[in-house]
Amino acid sequence: MIHDVIVIGGGIGGLMAAIEAKTPANRVALLTKGNLFKSNSALASGGINAVLNPYNTKDIQSHIDDTTKSAYGLGDKNNIKYMCNQAPSIIKKLTQYGVNFDKDESGNIAQRSFGGGSVRRTCFVGDTTGSQIIQTLIKKAKEVGVTFIVNNFVMNLTTYNGKISGVVALRRFDSSVVVYPAKSVVLAGGGYAGIYRGFSTNASDYTGDMLAIALRAGLRLVDMEFVQFHPTGFVATSYLVSEAARGEGGFLVNSDGDRFVNELDKRDVVARAINEQISLGKKVFIDLRHLSKELIEKKLPSLYKSAFLQAGIDLATELLPIKPVAHYTMGGIEADGVETDIKGLFVCGECASNGVHGANRLGGNSLLEGAVFGELAGKKALENSHKADFLPIDYSEVIKDIKLVDKIFDSETTKNFNAMRISLGKMMFLNVGIERNEDGLAKAFDYISYLRSEVPTLHCIHKERTNNVELISILELRNSIEISEAVILSALKRKESRGAHYRSDYNIDNQEYKKSIVIEELKRGILRAHFKENKFLYSIRKLFKQKAI
Ligand code: FUM
Repeated sequence: MIHDVIVIGGGIGGLMAAIEAKTPANRVALLTKGNLFKSNSALASGGINAVLNPYNTKDIQSHIDDTTKSAYGLGDKNNIKYMCNQAPSIIKKLTQYGVNFDKDESGNIAQRSFGGGSVRRTCFVGDTTGSQIIQTLIKKAKEVGVTFIVNNFVMNLTTYNGKISGVVALRRFDSSVVVYPAKSVVLAGGGYAGIYRGFSTNASDYTGDMLAIALRAGLRLVDMEFVQFHPTGFVATSYLVSEAARGEGGFLVNSDGDRFVNELDKRDVVARAINEQISLGKKVFIDLRHLSKELIEKKLPSLYKSAFLQAGIDLATELLPIKPVAHYTMGGIEADGVETDIKGLFVCGECASNGVHGANRLGGNSLLEGAVFGELAGKKALENSHKADFLPIDYSEVIKDIKLVDKIFDSETTKNFNAMRISLGKMMFLNVGIERNEDGLAKAFDYISYLRSEVPTLHCIHKERTNNVELISILELRNSIEISEAVILSALKRKESRGAHYRSDYNIDNQEYKKSIVIEELKRGILRAHFKENKFLYSIRKLFKQKAI
């Protein structure tokens, strides 16, 4: 069956977009590369920010102010305003769809404190908010008639005269390359924090695929150096200890038993404070022992269970060791709201960079941003598919993807790509982590150059084409390498500390750097980082096709 709109990604942004784009006459398919229930949105446990009363302009302004402050000078004013103003209606919509937010004693939606917020404005369902929202949206999407196409790894986009014409995907089941034509496409497949494999709350398949695809399609990436490290992950498994734990009153203590930071400060501040304790040779713990067991079980049931199962810790009586881990990526595909430079292609959620998070995201704003801009992307995709026609597919591009798959299967190898994925994660955490400097970044760049040179040698060891997991791992690694390079080049270019990008060799907030850095692919495999020029200069440069600056 042919679809008017293809949405890629099964998180909150993708699901909202698909629901919004679906009408009886508009055929919508949602493509995912893996398990629908395992998106990062489903893992965002602590909650979603919103002022509940749409007429409470004072509180909405305070949400705008907290978001802007957290963005460290790089927030996009209009998009932040739009998001915070839409928040009350988004919560209403989610509630109508069936999300049962926790209530306070008066029966109103309860709200908890979250890091960087000046008031309690995070709505929640215990500590399983994301997964409750995702389950509800999947049900809703099925009800309205969205088609789900799972286990399809999107390799590339196809375009015709600057307009979208479809997507090229690899079907896991039989490793065949298939084309899905579409009038509108929404990219909503998540960010790149999974590249920090072993040091990330993300599932390891968050390898920046959407961004790599966009780059290959000629789009630009923005703010790639800004990677948010969540202050609290399990030491052994990097499993997320939701900010809800601190929002409900949990303390952070070091091995001397001392508190050393305001637990509800912005994430970059708390993560760096923990990092400092660790570099002084201390351990850091989350301490919930002063809260009642009833409260922990009621408000943090998932954490309570996971601490016991994964670390053997009873949070009501014991301290849980934690460490900061890569959690969210502010960088993404350049977007004007949800629109891109390819007509009919829209982006939303973590893979997009519309400037609402700037240099550092406010906790609780990720689900909100996904929902608000997912809804908008769905509306725009529907609007576009009313006006647009199906356009020709450039099969010479599709053949390149078929050849690539054949090449990965056809040759023998002795290379261990899994070891490469793990070492890439460790290398990124050590050199492009919470704290960076010129030497570390240069080392990281050299390592990426080495990995790039190894790419042609990556082949499947097992040649069976049915459900071959190696093939996807290799394609993901290829994307990870490209996106890691984009992060490193941007981090090298930003010679200051701002938000989540902390350079130990440069000062905080150099006014000269109060602008975004963009990454462009000059020609296949050659990336260039430069400061974002204003729209006028960019359009002139595009007109003259003069790529280098
Ligand atoms: O800590 C958390 O529950 C994560 C939420 C978020 O990233 O917004």
